[in-house]
Amino acid sequence: MFPELTRDDVFRLETRRLWLRWPRLADATAILRQAGEKSVAEMTASIPHPYPVEAVEPFIFGARKGNALGDHLVLAITPRARPNELIGMIGAHHKANGTPFIGYWLGLPHWGKGYATEAVQALTDTLFTLLDIKALEADARVINPASRRVLEKSGFRAEGSFLKALPARGGLFPCEQYRLDRSTWAALKSWGSSGWAHAPDLGEEAAEPGPAAPSSSEACPA
Ligand SMILES: CC(C)(COP(=O)(O)OP(=O)(O)OC[C@H]1O[C@@H](n2cnc3c(N)ncnc32)[C@H](O)[C@@H]1OP(=O)(O)O)[C@@H](O)C(=O)NCCC(=O)NCCS
Repeated sequence: MFPELTRDDVFRLETRRLWLRWPRLADATAILRQAGEKSVAEMTASIPHPYPVEAVEPFIFGARKGNALGDHLVLAITPRARPNELIGMIGAHHKANGTPFIGYWLGLPHWGKGYATEAVQALTDTLFTLLDIKALEADARVINPASRRVLEKSGFRAEGSFLKALPARGGLFPCEQYRLDRSTWAALKSWGSSGWAHAPDLGEEAAEPGPAAPSSSEACPA
């Protein structure tokens, strides 16, 4: 589903403050520490809690394999100035109805700084730009106002609640379904308002960690 461009280890997205890049084995400790927090895991469908040490490497290999095959696009969220330092993850996955859905999490120390919104908007721009899709979907537990707000700030519209199976949580839980149509996304981009981030740069070539970008503008995966 995902094009050649995204299937290479050197693919990355750059935003004003972030690099979104393929996860690496060296991220294992950071994933274990941050996704291992109950407050992070409990809002997701697939992050176990406690997070078994032996689960993290297979997760990274699975993420990289799926990226290489174009089955999904799972990226580490890192500060642009320190791209070796994973602070969260974001991903887009294929859904049976053909509409990709996105999920994300951030480590607790990094909450409340607008990073999730910045990452979601960058991935959203990329998916609508690279894929011939009509819409994107996401969902959030009804008890997760921060994630719902991230989606709303990114133009997603709530479509009602439903009971969703969250395997790592062990049951069905009330979630809010969200959708962003291409036409709404295009309108938001052309209006250039509402705090929507500028389109990310699509990085294709390998690069060493660089200096912090000038502050000009601006997958869980659950
Ligand atoms: C959800 C999550 C990714 C948000 O990350 P973040 O970087 O803090 O998000 P942002 O800073 O971009 O935006 C958060 C917004 O939610 C708001 N918010 C946070 N807590 C809130 C609360 N309890 N009630 C209402 N709004 C809240 C913030 O004020 C902010 O909105 P604003 O910019 O209008 O002020 C992060 O909390 C997280 O990883 N949680 C655990 C995992 C998770 O929930 N993943 C998503 C699964 S669907």
